[in-house]
Amino acid sequence: MKLTRRQFGIAAGASAVAIASPLPLRAQSPIVIKFSHVVTDDTPKGKASLKFKELAEKYTGGKVKVEVYPNSQLYKDKEEIEALQLGAVQMLAPSTAKFAPLGAKEFEALDLPFVFPDTATYTKVAEGPVGKYLMDKLEPAGISGLAFWDNGFHMMTGNRPMHVASDFQGMKIRISGSKIADQYFRRVGAIPQILAFSEVYQAMQTGVVDGGENTPSNIYTQKFFEVQKHISAANHAHLQYAVIVNSKFWKGLPADIRPQLEKAMKEATDLANQIANQENVDALEAIKKTGKVTLYMVSGAERKTWIDAMMPVHEWAVGRCGQEVVDLLHKEAGFHT
Ligand code: LMR
Repeated sequence: MKLTRRQFGIAAGASAVAIASPLPLRAQSPIVIKFSHVVTDDTPKGKASLKFKELAEKYTGGKVKVEVYPNSQLYKDKEEIEALQLGAVQMLAPSTAKFAPLGAKEFEALDLPFVFPDTATYTKVAEGPVGKYLMDKLEPAGISGLAFWDNGFHMMTGNRPMHVASDFQGMKIRISGSKIADQYFRRVGAIPQILAFSEVYQAMQTGVVDGGENTPSNIYTQKFFEVQKHISAANHAHLQYAVIVNSKFWKGLPADIRPQLEKAMKEATDLANQIANQENVDALEAIKKTGKVTLYMVSGAERKTWIDAMMPVHEWAVGRCGQEVVDLLHKEAGFHT
């Protein structure tokens, strides 16, 4: 969906071009960074965004004001990416599964099933040549990548138990946008459907979808456990974000400001990546305590049925994401088919 002038608060007939103000006061107004995201404040991404706000305002002595808009308050999924390109927001941290509209399908390689055996491998990949390769792909879209923020491994939620691959047969599964996820769910006989994050709760409640994949911190803070009966953990895929900015805005910042924001971003990134695991552990405990959902840890033999069914997606991904990134990812992750 294209955003209209009205959604940007531009009155009909008015020009979007800024008009220079003759008032000297204008020089003192802070540079505003609108930072939009789709999760609650009480998640790794929510907390890291607020940390960035705190540090950016502190390090720039108030010359920068960061306005954080959580929980799809301002825009949802695809719309926030359009808004960033148009300059209506300056900073986002979307899941990398949502980057195809930026012409950067290569990011979807990170969604490959079972490619990360553990968090350490994911971190090595994000911080190494793969991370750099991916961020470079954003520049032609007028976007600069600043950091990767972790959110841990996905679990499955559903209205029925999901132990082995055949349990997914016929299930309508919500996905966030990645064609790789679309493929791996098709390979287990499920019917994937893209929905914006803000629409998932209701879709689960009304039976529009039967299940979805997400991390415990998202399942807990969005209360998906209220509208799903089962959670299955097989570490089949991983959720991470890339913090991205409008390049024109970022590169046009005064010389004394950008290094301070980079410092703030580095510290916010350290926080995001330090807390992601523990936040998921805590969220899972809290979900268990509600008693509303059955948690199942998939066994090694059961997990093998998922792996066998989903593994052909690695081959398929070459056509979607390109041989170069798939090979580089496999190498960096120490992955062998
Ligand atoms: C989703 O849409 O499920 C996630 O990308 C939400 C998020 O940003 O964690």
